[in-house]
Amino acid sequence: MSTMEMNWDYSDPATGLSLPAPYFYDSQVFEDEKQRIFLKCWHLVGHVNEFREAGNFICQDIFEQSVIVVAGRDGQINAFHNACRHRGNRLINERRGKIPAVLRCGYHSWCYGLDGSLRSAPRSDCLKDFDKTLYGLKPVRHEIFAGFVYVTLDDSAEPVAKMAAGAEAEMRHYLPDLDRLKLVEEVDVIVPANWKVIQENSIEGYHFDLSGPVHKRIAELIDFSGYRLTPHGKWWTYIGPPNADAKTAYGEPIAGATRQTDSFFNIGLWPNTTLYCFPFTDMVGTFIMIPLEPEKSLLRFGYYVPEHRPTPQLTKAAIDWMNRELGPEDISLNVTNQKGLRSFGFQQGRYLIDPEHPNQSEHLVHHFHKLCYQAIRE
Ligand code: FES
Ligand SMILES: [Fe+2]
Repeated sequence: MSTMEMNWDYSDPATGLSLPAPYFYDSQVFEDEKQRIFLKCWHLVGHVNEFREAGNFICQDIFEQSVIVVAGRDGQINAFHNACRHRGNRLINERRGKIPAVLRCGYHSWCYGLDGSLRSAPRSDCLKDFDKTLYGLKPVRHEIFAGFVYVTLDDSAEPVAKMAAGAEAEMRHYLPDLDRLKLVEEVDVIVPANWKVIQENSIEGYHFDLSGPVHKRIAELIDFSGYRLTPHGKWWTYIGPPNADAKTAYGEPIAGATRQTDSFFNIGLWPNTTLYCFPFTDMVGTFIMIPLEPEKSLLRFGYYVPEHRPTPQLTKAAIDWMNRELGPEDISLNVTNQKGLRSFGFQQGRYLIDPEHPNQSEHLVHHFHKLCYQAIRE
């Protein structure tokens, strides 16, 4: 790829051209994003309530890195690299589970406590100068932010609360039960598209009533003219007030169903985490675009509901609708979009920037592209 094709002038979204197509398939760009974005950013792992019982763990893979996040006996959450300190064997290969008394390596049975300390190493008595305290699992930095646990591989990353200053108040306003959630299900889908293609699709409303039939149904549940997409540096929101005339949603009556909010609420955290709530539902969804290859991503959908009351039928129907209808309709757009980006007939397009109709404007796509470009090129 020539340097010319990779340079991008982002100064004026209204008249300028969009991020050049190679950014969505070039292997060097992908490597740069890995090094400068994903090995430095925060990654949402799961909800704090998933760590109530000692030994409960979630493994978070970040490219070839893997992190174990586990509840300790003292009620604290610990995070470690998922590699035995003997010969490096990966210790855990499941996404979620429970470590019994100790974490035992499957190779030579070195055993670690839930605090990461090395408890036993068979036959190590014969070793000269072997100090067990020097061979605990290597810790990984982690934080709790608005009820969810995040990890980063960068010890100098600014705290999530600082990077996303103001985001927590916004979340708590729309998602009052953030601290009282339980996981209903997590669904992983492999999508043959660059992670940014998936992100772009979710941060513009331009396609809502112009693409597939399922999208029109979400537009009908909100007062689409009031849909607003707002950048705040390294976090952003896209929020639509409810359609006051709506009587049913996802095939279920709205009246009487408990909910987090009437609105369509979405909040994005740099670079690839989204939390959201569908209108009139009692759920908090997580939507994470995990890059695997330049043109392949893992899309992880998490569905959480308040644990202290029954889940309304309407919310169950909304989750089912996302899994079976809206998700697939967007994914098919991601796939065809990725194919077209490879065409000799496309290099850069135009952003639909419309201050008069901010609900349909692509200003947030430009904002996101700019963050990505700056992260790897400046
Ligand atoms: S590699 Fe883990 S005990 Fe040997
Ligand atoms: Fe969409």
